[in-house]
Amino acid sequence: MVKVTSMKNDKVNELADKLQGRDMLTLLDYTSEEVRYLIEKAVKMKQEKKEGNQKPSLAGKTLGMIFEKNSTRTRVSFDVGMVHLGGHAIYMNARDLQLGRGESIHDTAKVLSEMVDGIMIRANSHDNVVELAKHATVPVINGLTDQYHPCQALADLLTIYEEKGSFTGKKLVYVGDGNNVANSLVIAAAHVGMDVVVATPKGYECATDVVEKSKALAKANGSLFETTNDPVKAVKDADAIYTDVWTSMGQEKEIAQRLTDFKEFQINDELVCHAKDDYLFLHCLPAIREEEVAASVIDGPNSYVFQQAGNRLHAQKAVLDALL
Ligand code: CP
Ligand code: NVA
Repeated sequence: MVKVTSMKNDKVNELADKLQGRDMLTLLDYTSEEVRYLIEKAVKMKQEKKEGNQKPSLAGKTLGMIFEKNSTRTRVSFDVGMVHLGGHAIYMNARDLQLGRGESIHDTAKVLSEMVDGIMIRANSHDNVVELAKHATVPVINGLTDQYHPCQALADLLTIYEEKGSFTGKKLVYVGDGNNVANSLVIAAAHVGMDVVVATPKGYECATDVVEKSKALAKANGSLFETTNDPVKAVKDADAIYTDVWTSMGQEKEIAQRLTDFKEFQINDELVCHAKDDYLFLHCLPAIREEEVAASVIDGPNSYVFQQAGNRLHAQKAVLDALL
């Protein structure tokens, strides 16, 4: 088995115990050791699946999945992940639930906790997910909010690890909007000791507390954390370049303004020539070609976006197995 860490068995067992029953709302609630443990577990479970040795560790268990926003990858990967582990998932469109008619988050959390073994939720408001987790007695997993996308970040780390073989000394550059995906990515990368540079236009930076906490995590893990408004300077010698859409779900009214504000932040051939030759291009998807990324880059030889999307399945299986 590939080792992300050099954890001894008793440490692995201790972390497994600590993670059972926990929520996953943001990776700020996790220690660096726990994040590394989850990546190591994902590597192992991906290998087991490939070899036909998958253990049905969640046999008879059910994951309830609430969606307030569209999804392809999150929905399918959680559903398939539960099937692989011997359990199953229920898809719930928030509008069709009584929640959509005004039933409280409190009552929804209590009722679902009587019936399912875990809740995955994609919601507009992170605060509402915090509220749901407060009242649920089963683990609540954040499948994207306005602030964070932790499961995406774990899949991103898994992809980088598979391609680069380690995190130490590797430089990850995020270029674009300091959004939910960016917030979770930089926290995750700081946890595993990657050097991180975030380049955003002025006014679109990552949340201030995320930057401060990620800086502290990076320092504790012996890596660098920088923010800038200069994408060219940022991508110099990058091992991985990451971007996301300029306009996230729910921000559609801002499209015209954002197209103007982000125009210097497109990932194109001119920009990536400052990175290392073997840089990875990453994107959480869905992508808009010729907006945040040129087709020549996302469809080019340095792009790992589909492996990255596939890793949602493996990273989340590790999360489901650990928490449920
Ligand atoms: N990256 C991601 O979360 O994709 P979906 O919106 O399709 O779930
Ligand atoms: N930042 C994007 C990510 C989609 C997976 C959004 O929130 O719409």
